[in-house]
Amino acid sequence: MCAKITVDPFYDHYASRTSQMLSSEVRDLLAVTARPDIISFAGGLPYTEAIDPEVMLETVSGVLKEDCPAALQYGPTDGYVPLKHDLVEVMAEEGIPSLPEDIVITHGAQQGLDLLAKILINPGDHIIMEGPTYVGALNSFVSYQPVIHTVPLDDGGLVVERLEETLEGLASRGIRPKFLYTVSNFQNPTGITLEEERRHALLSLSREYDFIILEDNPYGLLRYEGEPIPALRSLDAERVVYLGTLSKIFSAGMRIGWVTAPRPVLEKVLLAKQSADLCTSSFTQRVAHRFFHERDWRGLIRKLRTIYRERRDAMLSALEEFFPEEITWTKPGGGLFVWVTLPDYINSSDMLASALEYKVAFVPGTGFFPPPGGNNFIRLNFSYPELDEIWEGIKRLSKVVKRELSLASCLGLDVGAVSKGSCERGSI
Ligand SMILES: Cc1ncc(COP(=O)(O)O)c(C=O)c1O
Repeated sequence: MCAKITVDPFYDHYASRTSQMLSSEVRDLLAVTARPDIISFAGGLPYTEAIDPEVMLETVSGVLKEDCPAALQYGPTDGYVPLKHDLVEVMAEEGIPSLPEDIVITHGAQQGLDLLAKILINPGDHIIMEGPTYVGALNSFVSYQPVIHTVPLDDGGLVVERLEETLEGLASRGIRPKFLYTVSNFQNPTGITLEEERRHALLSLSREYDFIILEDNPYGLLRYEGEPIPALRSLDAERVVYLGTLSKIFSAGMRIGWVTAPRPVLEKVLLAKQSADLCTSSFTQRVAHRFFHERDWRGLIRKLRTIYRERRDAMLSALEEFFPEEITWTKPGGGLFVWVTLPDYINSSDMLASALEYKVAFVPGTGFFPPPGGNNFIRLNFSYPELDEIWEGIKRLSKVVKRELSLASCLGLDVGAVSKGSCERGSI
């Protein structure tokens, strides 16, 4: 069989790092999710309808009435100081101590990830990620050409023993990894949270093997049950670089995230940001500050929690009701995602094509691992679809899954031998 080859006339003009850049399946799928006839569990869209447009109108016009010239102007690279004070309060909500001068405001946490990769990774450096991990971090890191090691997750988060094995293996070859990246709470894509005991173990390994920890925490305040667990950053501010964002608790469109880190690291982040974009939008920083200063933002988070908890419950109940028993999934205590494990003979990227015929979309697991890997997983988002869409969408998806299972059984695959919860890179 011969594949169709398209020749890019600029092929030999590109930097070699572009050959490793991965296309994000999440981003590609957003095109499909825009179709109104599709029930989409793809993407990770927060429910911005929860905010009253009138409130935003007043907030924006307040900024323009009182602070228009500055809002339209360049600002300091490290960010708008009054907003930094608000971010200190946001972190305090999770018991994370911080000072405004220890914060650099970025265009979303995504820019923070890219700047950190830029200042930390030389081509060929070794880094450690969870497997699966956040696709945006993976794509950003990959373009700086590191060697990526993944450590599996189970219900308690990163499996520390497996991390230790990886570290020992690297140390025996004289290799010190630059950093470990973790989404410590309600991870994207699995919804899993790193247990407290493991946080301590992880920190002690980072001291023993001398690597930095990048803690990315967009979902910590979206907890629907149980008690908060101390952030890695609050347990050891010397070892941990922390990324926060307003995307999931206020607005993703404002593009406001931040990095807080040990001072020397923060200074390098600042230099990298200067050359990346000079400063984060003066306008949206002022809008966000006005909102956080004048409005009941804690009330907004409570409202989002109520909405998302209900949607999570609906998704878990629908999965229970419609999905065949060979299939397993995570039961997240917060965040936006459920991670489904299919039998390992099912290819979830292929299954997406059938799902679209049934007018339902999800993200196949492959994007969340360095290739190859993740074929038999899917990520489902429950924050954006309405309750009735969740029930209907899961019902449609169950038909697709059942069709795949029966097809496999017709082909004589060992459908009974589904290894429950098994993951080619560990168990989830
Ligand atoms: C784990 C994680 N980190 C970072 C981001 C990017 O967030 P932001 O919108 O602040 O760039 C996301 C977005 O989904 C995420 O899930």
